[in-house]
Parts: sequence; C-alpha cells; structure tokens
Amino acid sequence: MLLQERMSAYPLKSSKGPVFPLRSVLVFLIALFGFYVCYFSFNQLTFENEEKLTNEEEQTKSICRKPAVPHEEKRYLHFPKPITYDRGECACTPVRFFVIVSMQRSGSGWFETLLNSHPNVSSNGEIFSVRDRRENISTILRTLDKLYSMDWHTSAAKNECTAAFGLKWMLNQGLMEHHQDIVDYLNRKGAMVILLFRRNTLRRLISVLANNYDRRTKQLNGIHKSHVHSKEEALSRVQEFLGVPVMKLSSKHVKIHTRPLPDLVDNWEDVSDMLNGTKYARFLDDADYVK
Ligand SMILES: *[C@@H]1O[C@H](CO)[C@@H](O)[C@H](O)[C@H]1NC(C)=O
Ligand SMILES: *[C@@H]1O[C@H](CO)[C@@H](O)[C@H](O)[C@H]1NC(C)=O
Ligand SMILES: *[C@@H]1O[C@H](CO)[C@@H](O)[C@H](O)[C@H]1NC(C)=O
Repeated sequence: MLLQERMSAYPLKSSKGPVFPLRSVLVFLIALFGFYVCYFSFNQLTFENEEKLTNEEEQTKSICRKPAVPHEEKRYLHFPKPITYDRGECACTPVRFFVIVSMQRSGSGWFETLLNSHPNVSSNGEIFSVRDRRENISTILRTLDKLYSMDWHTSAAKNECTAAFGLKWMLNQGLMEHHQDIVDYLNRKGAMVILLFRRNTLRRLISVLANNYDRRTKQLNGIHKSHVHSKEEALSRVQEFLGVPVMKLSSKHVKIHTRPLPDLVDNWEDVSDMLNGTKYARFLDDADYVK
C-alpha cells in the first residue's frame, strides 16, 4: 500500500521531468532487490545445512562449557567423540590427554598402576611395544590419533567419567627416532607430557641387570614387581597436573632389590673407584630421590 502510494505520488512531483525512465529504473531496482533477497536467503539455507554437518565438534564445544581454567590451559581440555561407543553422561566431562615418557626399569609400571587406581584416569600401557605401530611416523601418528579419539579398549577403561587419558611410552620405542614430529603432534593435539626418570642412573642400570638375572632365575612368580621408591607428594602433583581430584593412589607392585647397592653388586669397589671423583659420584650414595 505504502509503496503504491509513493509510486502514484512520484509522477505528480516530477511531472515535468522524465517520468518513464525514472519509473522503470525504480521498478528495475525493486526487482533486483527482490532477486537479491531471494538469492541471499537461499544461500543462507544451504550454508546453514553445511554448517550443521561439518561443525558438529564445534557445537559440542559450545554446548559443553569448558570449566573455569586459566586461558593457557584451555587447549589441554578435550571433548573426544569415540566412534565405537557413546560417552553418554560423560560427554561433557573434559578430558586431558597425556603421555608418560620413560625408560625401562624406572618404575614406570608401578607409576602407571598407581595412576590407573584413580577412577578418573585411564592410562593404556605401552601401546608402542607393538612393533607394527611404531614402524614409521605415519603408523605412530595414526596409532596416537586412534588412542586419543578414545576408541581404544583396554583394561584401563573406567566406569567413572574419564578425565585424563593417555599411554606409557619408552624412549626406545620409536620416540627418539621421530621425536621432532612427535613433539609437533603432541603440541598440536594439546597433550601433556609426564617425564618419568630414575634419578639414580646407576641404580637404574643395576636394576636392568638385576631384572635380567631375576628373569633367568624365575624369581618373580606371580605378581609383577618394580624397583621403586614411594613419593606421595610427587603423586599429588601429577594428579593436580592432570586436573583430577587428588586422592590416595595404590598399587600392588612392590619394590624388590631394596638392599643397599654395595650388597647388590659383587665388584662394588671397582664401581666405586671408577665413579669416585667424577660427576657421577652422587649415584654412589644410593639415593634414588633428592632428599
Ligand atoms: C609406514 O608403514 C606402513 C606399514 O608398514 C606402510 O604401509 C606405509 O607405506 C609406511 N609409510 C611410510 C611413509 O613409510
Ligand atoms: C570423575 O568421575 C566422576 C564420576 O563419573 C565425575 O562425576 C567427575 O566429574 C569426574 N571428575 C573429573 C575431574 O572429571
Ligand atoms: C672417594 O675418594 C676419596 C679420596 O680418594 C675417599 O676419601 C673417599 O672415601 C672415596 N669415596 C668412596 C665412596 O669410595
């Protein structure tokens, strides 16, 4: 109505001017505008559809509010969507990805069982002990992708909501050969690294020998044993690091070869003489941890 009034009012005002060209220009513009509106809304429709399909993860992210953590920690929080099962009521429980980097005979087995005694932590063992998975960098990254999508089923699975999910990785399981690519991947992925090493390298080396001896003589019937010390504060710090409620962790692993080093090593005098006065002398005093 308004438009029509204007249209009819128009020629009155400009009756002396070139009426016809102006009117047709106006009609043309209105038609153009109509086309534009149609085109635009059509585009919008398809665009919205596409967005629905591709941005599912974005949507989850906006639906699942990230908890109040410092900005720089946000990139370590993930909401994985496994293909093989539904996280159900845990879908909005953020998960931190971690990797325990260690060496053999460093107490990492004990450490991992401790972590797995936490209801919100799931560590999936030495997944790269399988040679095929560390064949080359692409098999390594594919394995990691599969693990961190949480489509990985081991005894580490929990009934509670998993809030920290990871693996144990020995330095000699492809980690050293491909360290640059792996570091890039972990950074990109927002995964956290726990470096576990035995402070007393000498004790670790002796433990390697002792372990071989034990294996040959079959002393280890039944339960698995690790050569370790307990360190409660360290464990609380790891739990804080992983963003899980701090609780008392337990392990069935027991430490063997607890005797002082001189009792364990036949030629201790030779070892001692060799190391005395060098920067390795500190290993002689038998301490695994800083006191
Ligand atoms: C990595 O190893 C897999 C399995 O052996 C093989 O199929 C693939 O071609 C290798 N990729 C590269 C880049 O070497
Ligand atoms: C640990 O699991 C419980 C039970 O599923 C859950 O309510 C809680 O939010 C989880 N903790 C964290 C830090 O996600
Ligand atoms: C190291 O050497 C010094 C001097 O030669 C000696 O007094 C000390 O007892 C030695 N320490 C050990 C642990 O053998």
